[in-house]
Amino acid sequence: MEYKNKRYLLDKRPVGMPEDDCWKMNEEIISNLNKNEILIEVKYLSIDPYMRGRMNDSRSYAAPAKIGEPMTGETAGVVVESNSKLFNIGDKVCAHKGWQTYIKAKDTDPALLKVPETDIGLSSFLGTLGMPGRTAYFGLNRVGKPKSGETLVVSAASGAVGTVVGQLGKIYGCYVVGIAGGQEKCSYVKDVLQFDECIDYKSGNLDDDLKKVCPNGIDIYFENVGGPVSQAVAPLLNNGSRVPICGFISQYNEQDMMKIETPFHVFGSLEPKPEHRFFVVTEWMNEWEKATQEILKLVSEGKMRYRETITKGFENAPQALRDVLTGRNFGKQIIEI
Ligand SMILES: NC(=O)c1ccc[n+]([C@@H]2O[C@H](COP(=O)([O-])OP(=O)(O)OC[C@H]3O[C@@H](n4cnc5c(N)ncnc54)[C@H](OP(=O)(O)O)[C@@H]3O)[C@@H](O)[C@H]2O)c1
Repeated sequence: MEYKNKRYLLDKRPVGMPEDDCWKMNEEIISNLNKNEILIEVKYLSIDPYMRGRMNDSRSYAAPAKIGEPMTGETAGVVVESNSKLFNIGDKVCAHKGWQTYIKAKDTDPALLKVPETDIGLSSFLGTLGMPGRTAYFGLNRVGKPKSGETLVVSAASGAVGTVVGQLGKIYGCYVVGIAGGQEKCSYVKDVLQFDECIDYKSGNLDDDLKKVCPNGIDIYFENVGGPVSQAVAPLLNNGSRVPICGFISQYNEQDMMKIETPFHVFGSLEPKPEHRFFVVTEWMNEWEKATQEILKLVSEGKMRYRETITKGFENAPQALRDVLTGRNFGKQIIEI
């Protein structure tokens, strides 16, 4: 059987916000599988902030996306053809193989991850039960090192990573404050996710509002956004505080990273310095399964909630990335193919 694979190839590196002309849609026909290969029909594509960084031609912890190749990204789908003893037709799989609608891969490819059998929707394995959930889990536990009674502040609190950080913090006995953009997101974080407080950083009173809800200072700041939010947090950090630097999305479209004040500058210039470092979820790859199982248990027991923005149509992926970079998403941004 023949399958028509649609792919979004990176065509141009962006300056500032990535516009449509940065990608080119391309189609290829996939036929005959070789021995030990499988074919996955993609159902969902994950849209993540890190994708913006991969579009630049600069060195970081990961290589840049290559011009002419499928845009970097994770997908979740179902095996529709199998020449493998490891995968059966119907198996659900996550694949880190880029923006494409069919994926032909060797069954031992490390970019494939089998999805456990559950009733939980497949898209969740790109969000709370996927890379963002694991990022929250390891960043908070291994870098944030939370203790019961401590004050934990997390930015981008209604998003894929932030929701898991805050809810884990509550489970560990922390006093948890979220920071998010707009009243609707803040109400969700407080009323549905049960954070103790949530501050709207767009309200114009960030410094005072944050101070008011953190009477004992801040012990852990889980950094997702950078910019003015980091500036507001910095003076409230207690001695011995920890700052896991997960990302700084407000600065991803900057043209010259050397000219901006990143969270490393903000927290590195404090005296005494908080324990702060950038981390990447792949540092704990050999423990991913354990983390996923723990989060899965919490989700199954109704102790971990989340929200997804599911946009229909592969062709909407570029706009969805712009939405994530401007906060138009509410919860994990997914494309339904
Ligand atoms: N280190 C790692 O291994 C790793 C892995 C995954 C993700 N990350 C990082 O984790 C962070 C959150 O990622 P996510 O996947 O959970 O995304 P997300 O929170 O689901 O979506 C991004 C959110 O960022 C906020 N935002 C956008 N522009 C902003 C600005 N100028 N100022 C402040 N907030 C802004 C928006 O929320 P508001 O509407 O509330 O502003 C938006 O909804 C990102 O920095 C990402 O790069 C790091």
